[in-house]
Amino acid sequence: MRKRFIAGNWKLNLTAAEGVALVQGLAKTLPTDGRSARAEVAVCPTALALSEVAKAAAGTAVGVGGQNCHWEEKGAFTGEVSASLLKAAGARYVIIGHSERRQFFGETDQTVNKRLKAALAQGLVPIVCVGETLPERDGGKLQEVLTRQVKGAIEGMQASQLESLVVAYEPVWAIGTGRTATSAQAQEAHAFIRGLLTQALGVLATRVRIQYGGSVKPDNAHELLSMPDVDGALVGGASLKLADFAAICAAAYSDTPAKAAP
Ligand code: 13P
Repeated sequence: MRKRFIAGNWKLNLTAAEGVALVQGLAKTLPTDGRSARAEVAVCPTALALSEVAKAAAGTAVGVGGQNCHWEEKGAFTGEVSASLLKAAGARYVIIGHSERRQFFGETDQTVNKRLKAALAQGLVPIVCVGETLPERDGGKLQEVLTRQVKGAIEGMQASQLESLVVAYEPVWAIGTGRTATSAQAQEAHAFIRGLLTQALGVLATRVRIQYGGSVKPDNAHELLSMPDVDGALVGGASLKLADFAAICAAAYSDTPAKAAP
C-alpha cells in the first residue's frame, strides 16, 4: 500500500508569521488516532519562511519542504538555495522541476536531473513535477512529453537511489486555472507514468507515490484520490486557505474516498 501524500505548494505566498499560523491550525485538524498512518501531509513555504514554519511544525504531523534546490551544495551561486541548507532549516521534502520553474526560470530535464541527485544526496524526499501544456495535450503529445520528462529526471540513476521518489503529475493547463483534469485523465497519465517508472526501476515503481496537481480543491479531492494510481495531491491555491487545505487532507485520511462518478 502506498501511503497517500498531500503537499501544499505555497509558491510566492505567505510570510513566516502567516505560514506558522496556517501550520498550527492545520496540525490541529489532522488525525492522531489509527487513521494517522493512512496519509502524510507537508507544506512547502518560501525559502525565507521555511525555518520558522519548520519549527512550528516540529512535533506535529505536518512536514515541511522547499520549493526548489540548486544542485551545488555551496559556492558562488548568488540567489540560490542548496539541498543541504534546506535540510539544515528543517525541510524533509523538496519540489523539483515545477512547471513554473520550467516556464519562467529556464528549468530543463537536465537541471531537474542534477537537482534530483543533489536532493537525494542530502536525504530529502524529492517531489519531481512533470506535466504537459495544453498545446502538447491537444497535439497528441502527452505520452511523449511525460516520457521525456520522467526519463530525463531519473537519467543515469539506479532504482536503489530512488526509493523515496515522489512524482507529481501537474498538467500545466490545470494549474491555477480552476480547470482540473478529470479523474479519468489523471488516472490515465498516472498509469502511464507508473509504466515508465516500471521500465526504469522495476518493482520499485509500485512504491513510488504519484501526486496529482492542478486546481485540487475540497470538492474534487475525494474523486481524484479514489483513482488507483493517484496517491496524493500537490496543492497550490487551496493550500493557502486553512479550511480548504484541511478538507483536502481529510479526504486523504478518509478510508472510503468517493468513487469516480460513473
Ligand atoms: P493550483 O492548485 O493553484 O492549481 O496549483 C497547482 C500547483 O502548481 C501545485 O504545485
